[in-house]
Amino acid sequence: MLEDMLILGIESSCDETAAAVVKNGREVLSNIISSQIDIHTLYGGVVPEIASRKHIERINYVIEEALCTAGVTLKDIDAISVTYGPGLVGALLVGVNTAKAISYAARKPLVGVHHIEGHIAANYIEHPGLEPPFLCLVVSGGHTHLVQVEAYNDFRIIGYTHDDAAGEAFDKVARAIGLGYPGGPEIDRLAKQGNPYAIGFPRAKVDGHEFDFSFSGLKSAVLNYLNGCSMKGMEVNTADVAASFQQAVIDVLAERAMGAAIKTGRNCIAVAGGVAANSALRAAMEENCSKNGIKLYYPSPVYCTDNAAMIAVQGYYNYLAGKRDGLDLNAIPNLELGL
Ligand code: KG4
Ligand code: ZN
Repeated sequence: MLEDMLILGIESSCDETAAAVVKNGREVLSNIISSQIDIHTLYGGVVPEIASRKHIERINYVIEEALCTAGVTLKDIDAISVTYGPGLVGALLVGVNTAKAISYAARKPLVGVHHIEGHIAANYIEHPGLEPPFLCLVVSGGHTHLVQVEAYNDFRIIGYTHDDAAGEAFDKVARAIGLGYPGGPEIDRLAKQGNPYAIGFPRAKVDGHEFDFSFSGLKSAVLNYLNGCSMKGMEVNTADVAASFQQAVIDVLAERAMGAAIKTGRNCIAVAGGVAANSALRAAMEENCSKNGIKLYYPSPVYCTDNAAMIAVQGYYNYLAGKRDGLDLNAIPNLELGL
């Protein structure tokens, strides 16, 4: 029998400073997240320079708390895994440099993790039976991808967005209707009071690319609708706008994911990334998957948005695959998936 393996995960790619300890790639012993949302809310979005500085202030405390909550010390840790891209370069560098320092000082192996691969791996935490191959709908603030997960370390992108990511569209529309940052959870809440079919917003297709996405036209349609109302002196029902916009995003995501699963013969879909926390998307995917006999997985909301447990999980599978990084590991802001 193999010995238990403990991975310390570190995540600092955007506006959460996070550290976690995960046992054998599946059992979360601690998951500490220090969110900067309250600071960035003042500016209506993430300010990269502020994000980097806050990561520096918090990262050591977060790591100490992760070890302490897990009831372990650095000595017990088998490897350090860290997000090295994609993300904000200054923010990523804080996590990467901290991980390198710990790896050097404590003589522990260092394993770099792709942030999106981490989001996908978040699905393994609460679903012990989930193993590749499966299709993953990745919907975060910066990415909207349909990914064939062939193995723990083998990813093939079969669909992607040509412009805005789904989460980005949520954030921009939320700002236009006067909601706070991040906009996704606010729209999710407000949409519950609105009619999703009140306003007919477009569901864009990308010519010649059946699994691709485009959300910039939808975002413009919402802005045009709001301008039109203001010019005509009409009062805007923001709950209807939120619900109708959200429905348009969900229809496209669900339709593309189902189409891709059916066409590629996959009977299992996982959803990952911040937008996977959306209650209406989860309900729509449940309904579509059960109609088509497809198994559906998604993480609890805390593992959908940025966290370090998912980085430790993917770090574990990278480690098992023999991946090791040296002290020359660098932050790569536009790191591609599956390379
Ligand atoms: O995965 P994530 O935490 O960070 C990135 O890697 O980008 O995703 C953040 C995105 C934001 O755009 C946020 O508005 C969106 O996820 N989000 C949601 C919800 N919770 C977070 N979007 C829709 N509904 C939600 N409940
Ligand atoms: Zn993320």
